[in-house]
Amino acid sequence: MAEEKSFKYVIVGGGVAAGYAAREFSKQGLKPGELAIISREQVPPYERPALSKGYINLENKATLPGFYVCAGSGGEKQFPQWYKENGIELILDTEIVKADLAAKTLVSGTGQVFKYQTLLAATGSSVTRLSDFGVQGADAKNIFYLRELDDADELVTAMDVKKNGKAVVVGGGYIGLELSSALKVNNLEVTMVYPEPWCMPRLFTAGIASFYEGYYANKGINIVKGTVAAGFSTNSNGEVAEVKLKDGRTLKADIVIVGVGARPIISLFKGQVEEEKGGLKTDAFFKTSVPDVYAIGDIATFPMKLYNEMRRVEHVDHARKSAEQAVKAIKAAEEGKSIPEYDYLPYFYSRAFDLSWQFYGDNVGETVMFGDNDPKSPKPKFGSYWIKEGKLIGAFLEGGTPEENKAIAKVARTQPSVESLNVLSKEGLSFATKI
Ligand code: FDA
Ligand code: NAD
Repeated sequence: MAEEKSFKYVIVGGGVAAGYAAREFSKQGLKPGELAIISREQVPPYERPALSKGYINLENKATLPGFYVCAGSGGEKQFPQWYKENGIELILDTEIVKADLAAKTLVSGTGQVFKYQTLLAATGSSVTRLSDFGVQGADAKNIFYLRELDDADELVTAMDVKKNGKAVVVGGGYIGLELSSALKVNNLEVTMVYPEPWCMPRLFTAGIASFYEGYYANKGINIVKGTVAAGFSTNSNGEVAEVKLKDGRTLKADIVIVGVGARPIISLFKGQVEEEKGGLKTDAFFKTSVPDVYAIGDIATFPMKLYNEMRRVEHVDHARKSAEQAVKAIKAAEEGKSIPEYDYLPYFYSRAFDLSWQFYGDNVGETVMFGDNDPKSPKPKFGSYWIKEGKLIGAFLEGGTPEENKAIAKVARTQPSVESLNVLSKEGLSFATKI
């Protein structure tokens, strides 16, 4: 029988939140052997955003160990040696298949048993698959998804083999926009397909989206909107050859990349932990309904104090900050102390081609656009504000300097009153920079 191992703290999942939690544990003081990270991935925690950017740029490839956490926030890179030196056991290539929270026990796929006193659940998200919607032929070769390093490695190999070939990108969200750019930069002929009237509808207004669609079109990317992939046909090797669209059209394809959303991985905890909005419900310290069990990163549905609402966030900044908050809360509780509640300002960003945008706050209410949003402009810089009940509550900026990005973060946090949308539109970015 496999040996049973026991730890004071166990983090299940070895992604962004796990890596930042480990750093916070080591800052707060950790005895050797107290903490274990159990991850099904074969490498230590890394900055996942690199997978859709530098890691798949064949000409100028970012490689590990260059993007181990906490490189993405300007911190020290945590090499395998870092975990050793900090007395943290990294248990890689190990999937937990059962969690018995009453018995404080985890069991791996190979039957290894891990006991803990405090558990941090950091299992992140998995991709939504086209087969989940019953799309015919969706298991053909060269249809890719992107979540983990192995997925990115497979994609890089295929891009190399299918050099100068045709790629179809299914989905117009984060993955769709970032991967289309990466494929184009790698000299593939790219077509994007998505059902909505414009890309990234969960954040972009029609005005914002029209800039990116224009810019992508100028780069030679073909955009097909208002329809979905309904099926795939293959060649004699079982490789994808054609994408059949619901509207009857077909697109030739050597590679297909799918980015149609993600779902939090919470099946281990089903029936044991209270859930909300698809995630594990937590308080402002990321404590779940089960004593000594915390949930951080993508899987946590937590109180967003600023908007007085329970929310789940699938972005890296929150993965880092929720991890730090949970560890601080755990350590403070051990000393009979308390810490302030999590007070998160949503922050999302993306980079593609030479573009780079940041968004802070909430994207509800009326909108006002400002700046130069001509896709042909040599140095486009534009943005949008969201105004609700007379207050500015969200701000988006493409092409901002670090100072300007700080300014839009500040207005989204301070929520200044807006007297007139016309005046705000005329003032544009200077409304934020003067505050
Ligand atoms: P994360 O997914 O990082 O880690 C979860 C870990 O748990 C994985 O290692 C997984 O293998 C492991 N695991 C799951 N179940 C397990 C089990 N049963 N046993 C053991 N291990 C298990 N965000 C952003 O703000 N800006 C950006 O530019 C990007 N870019 C980006 C690119 C790509 C390709 C992806 C997929 C995602 C992004 N994101 C992003 C989103 C961001 O990366 C994401 O929100 C964080 O990685 C979430 O961190 P977590 O630690 O919660 O999950
Ligand atoms: P997403 O939610 O951003 O976009 C999903 C898109 O799928 C929708 O916009 C829609 O266009 C499309 N869609 C839905 N059903 C479809 C269908 N049947 N056919 C074709 N298109 C369909 O999800 P994603 O882009 O897959 O990203 C996955 C995860 O990775 C998310 O958690 C995201 O936050 C994260 N991510 C974030 C970043 C970033 O923050 N810069 C970058 C990459 C990935």
